[in-house]
Amino acid sequence: MNDLLQEIEEAADLQAVVDLLHDRVEHYSWVGVYLVEGDDLVLGPWKGPQATEHVRIPVGQGVCGAAAASGETEVVDDVNADPRYLACFPSTRSEIVVPIAREGRVLGEIDIDSDQPAAFGDADRELLEHVAGLIALLA
Ligand code: SME
Repeated sequence: MNDLLQEIEEAADLQAVVDLLHDRVEHYSWVGVYLVEGDDLVLGPWKGPQATEHVRIPVGQGVCGAAAASGETEVVDDVNADPRYLACFPSTRSEIVVPIAREGRVLGEIDIDSDQPAAFGDADRELLEHVAGLIALLA
């Protein structure tokens, strides 16, 4: 994880950060960054086997919109048991959404889907909250 973090710190742009997370962490099946535009989250760089139809999500809708509204990380162990969940890929079993915030204002978020149930633990949350802090400095 520390090697990965160092590479992320040296990454040239947001797409490179997304690519590193996707390519280097086995259980990260789809990785995307949404950026706040007005009252919506708009999909920016992403990497995964398929594009998502959810390229614009109103703040407050879905797991993504909930994290943007609260400014708190959302971890969903079983997406099929969460009524907020907006389905993107039939293979997804769990999801983590980490807000990118500066001075209390949410600028965007990191959204990661996993094909494994309950894939996201404390190490993922710590890594991704740190990465979100780095992105907030650049955004
Ligand atoms: N599942 C998200 C929508 C985005 S896709 O996972 C890429 C949600 O419930 O907000």
